[in-house]
Amino acid sequence: MSSTRQTLKSKRILIVDPLGECLPLAKKLVDENFEKTILSRSFEELLRILTNARATREPIDLLIVSMHLPEFNDADFFKTIRSVYSGAMMSLAESTDQRDLQLRLSGGADDIFVQNSNPELFLLKVECLLTRKILRDQMGLSTYRNEALFLNILAVMAKVLEAKDPNTRFHSEKVSMLATNIAREMGLPEDEIKRVSIAGILHDIGKMGIPESILRKPGPLDPAEREVVERHPLLAAQILEPIEKLKQAVDYIKHHHEHYDGSGYPEQLSGDAIPLGARILHVAEAFDSMVTVKNYAETLLPEEALAEIQRCAGQQFDPFIVDVLDRILRRSGLLVPQANMPTKSLPQLLEEFAV
Ligand SMILES: [Fe+2]
Repeated sequence: MSSTRQTLKSKRILIVDPLGECLPLAKKLVDENFEKTILSRSFEELLRILTNARATREPIDLLIVSMHLPEFNDADFFKTIRSVYSGAMMSLAESTDQRDLQLRLSGGADDIFVQNSNPELFLLKVECLLTRKILRDQMGLSTYRNEALFLNILAVMAKVLEAKDPNTRFHSEKVSMLATNIAREMGLPEDEIKRVSIAGILHDIGKMGIPESILRKPGPLDPAEREVVERHPLLAAQILEPIEKLKQAVDYIKHHHEHYDGSGYPEQLSGDAIPLGARILHVAEAFDSMVTVKNYAETLLPEEALAEIQRCAGQQFDPFIVDVLDRILRRSGLLVPQANMPTKSLPQLLEEFAV
């Protein structure tokens, strides 16, 4: 048997059949060496199998549903199934009534087999659905691997960029850590927190396109140099744009220098028009820059940096996020003057924010 056929035969097929009328079809599959064919008798059992399969990462590849399952005619049937199952689905039908067939297809079935038709046609449909599923999985996997590789390369490049300059070492990690804590303190959903974390790591990736002579200039920048530096959020967005699943995180990066009053860049957005993740990054980045030791500007203590950020709340920063930062810092104890505070590294300090 060729390896493609072997792969096909190794797929898991679940038939939901409360009345036992699908046994001839199940037998046909077993005769054709589809050895992982299982039967389920009820809707509850079906949901249990699908949920377990997902949890154990041994997914069902093809689901075949009898039209005599009582729940089959519920309006939410396909929606419920699709909430726990993303594989191929075949619906069995009693007749070739076009309206009925159309309803099943638009509901979420990938194909239909009219019961008591030629079993060879059934087999052909099963093989088609499984082949499509295998191709879809392979395409998804290679896209995922390419995107993950691309992101890892970018994260390494961001580190290399920062490592060359003692003023910016660990900047991405620190901004990401603080922004993550702010997002968590705000009670944002896990997906959103993850996007903010990733955006924090990659937020300054656009600086790869800025000449080092400007990035490492010890003194203040002249207007032309400032204009070049201010291109970095747009450059980052251009680098990351091809990664579809980063769409929102890219938006946060693109706007992480917008000011709450509309005086920032690149698009002079203001207030809630600035994506929330970008407003969080802006506060986190400002705090990290202020407390980091650098050779071109004064280093502030955490309480001084907080006071400065509070002074600019409503103009540069979202006041709500500034309050969240205040809460996190106070709870961490960082604002209480400590004899050894200046000797602590910022990564250590930021770790203490973790809740
Ligand atoms: Fe930046």
